[in-house]
Amino acid sequence: MEISSSLELDIKPRWSLVYLAALCLFLCTCFPAEAFDPLDPNGNITIKWDVMSWTADGYVALVTMFNYQQYRHIEAPGWNLGWHWAKKEVIWNMQGAQATMQGDCSKFHGNIPHCCKPDPTIVDLLPGVPYSQQSANCCRGGVLGSFAQDPANSAASFQVIVGNAGTSNTTVVLPKNFTLSTPGPGYTCGPAKKVKQSLFPSPDGRRHTQALMTWNVTCAYSQFLAQRAPTCCVSFSSFYQEAIVPCRTCACNCKPNITQPLLSTQPLCVDPTDALTMPTTPPLVNGASSIIRNQPVPALLYCSEDMCPIQIHWHVKVNYQQYWRAKVTITNRHVKNYTLWNLVVQHPNFNNLTESFSFTYKPLSAYGTINDTAMFWGIKYYNDMLMAAGPEGNVQSEILLQKDSRFTFGQGWAFPHRILFNGDECVLPPPDSYPSLPNAASKLRVLTSFLVMSILVLCVLAAIL
Ligand SMILES: *[C@@H]1O[C@H](CO)[C@@H](O)[C@H](O)[C@H]1NC(C)=O
Ligand SMILES: *[C@@H]1O[C@H](CO)[C@@H](O)[C@H](O)[C@H]1NC(C)=O
Ligand SMILES: *[C@@H]1O[C@H](CO)[C@@H](O)[C@H](O)[C@H]1NC(C)=O
Ligand SMILES: *[C@@H]1O[C@H](CO)[C@@H](O)[C@H](O)[C@H]1NC(C)=O
Ligand SMILES: *[C@@H]1O[C@H](CO)[C@@H](O)[C@H](O)[C@H]1NC(C)=O
Ligand SMILES: *[C@@H]1O[C@H](CO)[C@@H](O)[C@H](O)[C@H]1NC(C)=O
Ligand SMILES: *[C@@H]1O[C@H](CO)[C@@H](O)[C@H](O)[C@H]1NC(C)=O
Ligand SMILES: *[C@@H]1O[C@H](CO)[C@@H](O)[C@H](O)[C@H]1NC(C)=O
Repeated sequence: MEISSSLELDIKPRWSLVYLAALCLFLCTCFPAEAFDPLDPNGNITIKWDVMSWTADGYVALVTMFNYQQYRHIEAPGWNLGWHWAKKEVIWNMQGAQATMQGDCSKFHGNIPHCCKPDPTIVDLLPGVPYSQQSANCCRGGVLGSFAQDPANSAASFQVIVGNAGTSNTTVVLPKNFTLSTPGPGYTCGPAKKVKQSLFPSPDGRRHTQALMTWNVTCAYSQFLAQRAPTCCVSFSSFYQEAIVPCRTCACNCKPNITQPLLSTQPLCVDPTDALTMPTTPPLVNGASSIIRNQPVPALLYCSEDMCPIQIHWHVKVNYQQYWRAKVTITNRHVKNYTLWNLVVQHPNFNNLTESFSFTYKPLSAYGTINDTAMFWGIKYYNDMLMAAGPEGNVQSEILLQKDSRFTFGQGWAFPHRILFNGDECVLPPPDSYPSLPNAASKLRVLTSFLVMSILVLCVLAAIL
């Protein structure tokens, strides 16, 4: 065992670096100059409009959304796509999606458009709609998979028939002010840009047809814009230290005070000991241990000091000669199933991750700039769904890492620098609280008690003799 070597000497300067890094991270996540994620530098959602044919008063377009983000997906209730028409366009018909509001179509007689709003909002159709309303890659209730985890479901498309529009590539004016919401904020979209017309291969690939006109819109995510409270926190433990480092108090929110009148900003939570009676809709009267506020809330949470729906626990489990092993547990404290969850972990030893036993693992190093970050997700039909809070509400895996030259159990090195759950940054414990090695001070204590014991024994012996 090499853990008792003296590693405590330069802790202070290192910790101040960690503090500085944490501060930078904080500032970066709070005041980003633009939506840019260093862990996924090319992540974006690109919306492509292909004008497929002209009509008497406009065109038929195929609109496709591509989620190029490695680990950020769009969950139910799904995406909302909006824009402003540049002229007085209307949507005659849609296939594979629908406008949420028809708007004022009172000017029309006979044929009534699908939507007359100058700023339509489009949502996906739900699974199982009649075939006649579908289009390729549609009808998944707005769920969009991430590029690394679920590439087959990372694109969505719909067809739109636009009227009152131009009927040639010189008279069509591109829509403006694209917005993408999920349905909360978080994405900002750039302007539509005319690009090279798309090619569409025939099924046998021997012929390509070409769009009449194509434009692209790129949308990027920023956690700052999303302005969401954190949704997950991290706790630590290790084989060399008995104490567990819990999640930060108030990491996601502060635990409501039962004796105080409840503030509307406080989330509803239920005592974990009431697990079996955890309701799926907010109860109307509060008992001794369930806390209720008047406003309805979408889902319930177990009460905890951190009030996070998701807890990630990192346990440094075994030390081998050349390898070490950590165990990662994700616990759900939410009355909600997380389908296709994913975890992004940054740790300096991830350039040498050898095996992940029960999670799928992919290094996020596609661009060669980062080699310390990995993405994990569940194995299909085994643990790809993180079940709602309760005895089944957790997934776990052990990971085996080959020690690299920097390896140490000191200075909290064995703990990750950054963790994201479903693309949201998780709150780490304060840097000075990481499990520390049994250190010089405790060695001194052992030595002192040994000396005291020896003197006592000597005294007793002297008294007897
Ligand atoms: C969007 O993502 C794709 C795929 O990663 C990339 O090729 C493209 O350059 C990105 N676009 C922008 C504007 O960042
Ligand atoms: C419009 O289409 C014509 C014929 O395909 C092409 O020659 C022209 O360059 C296009 N103009 C623009 C602005 O794309
Ligand atoms: C787009 O948004 C800008 C700024 O919010 C606004 O001034 C402009 O009128 C909008 N364009 C359209 C076509 O609505
Ligand atoms: C437009 O988007 C499509 C789909 O992502 C992509 O293949 C194409 O390269 C993009 N064009 C430009 C000029 O970015
Ligand atoms: C809860 O609120 C009561 C009344 O305001 C206060 O006396 C008590 O200290 C609070 N308890 C906690 C844990 O904040
Ligand atoms: C979660 O999934 C399980 C299994 O598919 C299902 O029985 C349960 O009703 C789901 N719970 C919620 C809250 O959707
Ligand atoms: C990983 O990153 C470190 C630090 O930037 C660098 O020294 C090392 O050469 C990189 N390794 C690989 C395999 O790219
Ligand atoms: C892992 O680390 C060892 C020791 O530093 C090194 O020899 C080996 O090449 C590394 N493996 C990878 C995949 O980087």
